[in-house]
Amino acid sequence: MAAAAAGHNQTASAQIFERARHVMPSGYTRHLVVQKPNPTYAASGDGCWITDVEGNRRLDWVNNFSSLIHGHNKREIVEMLAAQAGRLMSAVLPTEWEVSLAEILCERIPSVERVRFMNSGTEANQIAIKAARAYTGKPKIAKMEGGYHGQFDLLEASFQSNPGNWGPAERPNATAYQVGHPQGLLDLVTILPLNDIEATRAILRAEADQLAAVILDPQRLQLGMVAPHRPYLEMLREETEKLGIVLIFDEVWSLRAGYNGFQGEIGITPDLTTMGKIIGGGIPVGGCGGQQKFMSVFEVDAGDPKIKHSGTFTANPMAMACGTTSLRLLTPDVFARMAAQGERLREGLRAIRRDLGIKAQVLGEGSLSGMTPTELPLNNYRELAYAFATEIAPKLPVIQTELLAEDLLTMRGGFVGSTPMTDDDIDFTIAGARRAWTRIMAQ
Ligand SMILES: Cc1ncc(COP(=O)(O)O)c(C=O)c1O
Repeated sequence: MAAAAAGHNQTASAQIFERARHVMPSGYTRHLVVQKPNPTYAASGDGCWITDVEGNRRLDWVNNFSSLIHGHNKREIVEMLAAQAGRLMSAVLPTEWEVSLAEILCERIPSVERVRFMNSGTEANQIAIKAARAYTGKPKIAKMEGGYHGQFDLLEASFQSNPGNWGPAERPNATAYQVGHPQGLLDLVTILPLNDIEATRAILRAEADQLAAVILDPQRLQLGMVAPHRPYLEMLREETEKLGIVLIFDEVWSLRAGYNGFQGEIGITPDLTTMGKIIGGGIPVGGCGGQQKFMSVFEVDAGDPKIKHSGTFTANPMAMACGTTSLRLLTPDVFARMAAQGERLREGLRAIRRDLGIKAQVLGEGSLSGMTPTELPLNNYRELAYAFATEIAPKLPVIQTELLAEDLLTMRGGFVGSTPMTDDDIDFTIAGARRAWTRIMAQ
């Protein structure tokens, strides 16, 4: 219903939000989409464009946090989903679709010889942690300060620690993220300082007899702003192997980096890989895979498995069929085209930065790009937290709003590409970003 048809001053989104406030806390069911005075409600999507209930059509550079790698409304996916919905939406019996999706992942992702499915990236990480504990017989998990792995409270430790509670840089405290975060859970987590090779090595060695796993997103921390350095990743691979600690790459987001995932791009192979987002083609999904010896904790051939993993909607055929269709469409050529478009966009952003004299750095690789409004170094969570508090955070709302005024829907000004995008869409984005930044610089 368009605002005009509603017959009074409120926009259609404001009217929906008014109803929402009576049935959801403050009207929301998802924290990251909070928008004042009210969220903009989506009506439909078509290719790389999304239309809201007011009728505004925008280039969708968020793609539901990277999960919609084919954008909206991809014909092959829609047809397959309609057909599958008519056949079977879910059942207690497994379907062939789960085997098809597993075959694709085992063929493409270097560390994955066996895989199990779940319904979200969060759940994938929960299961991977259980597998690592069962495999090693050890209780603790190490994660990066500032690392995000979904809503599993164990892994929320130190996601947003601050100078008041984070402790020494070379031995960070495990800090609560939510009010009520139990100390008992924090005691089970070891926090590592990203990119500090010596400090991390010392912590791993000191705690080796307690640590079941090290988990990290190998590509980025906090929406793409901090990248693990290659020597750091190499050290992690070497030390964990030596110390009998399971190395988990959380590729829930980074799998979109290439045909063989981010691990294929960098040639470093973890023990377990967690997946989500693009492997469901738009339907909720999660996956946990690895070498057979690590995945043996799920095996039932010799009796009860070490880990009993089930779930009502696990491997439901809608997600499995959608994921299979989506990944079949993602050929090496398609990844190469997305990476070339990403580079075209980054080149455009670099030119804008140069021409307008913006204090910023253009970050990203493959289909992820962004212009982060600071020139401060960003090598770990603490540097990011400082840059964020002093320079980035005050500018982000303005950047997002000015890009939106150019019909560019972004999350914090970051750009997550999709396969329906054309070079014209990239040029449209660069031209819009230039106008947006010209206005920002004039403020
Ligand atoms: C690296 C990483 N891990 C895990 C998750 C959680 O996945 P989900 O939202 O499907 O639970 C996300 C979500 O953005 C993510 O980026």
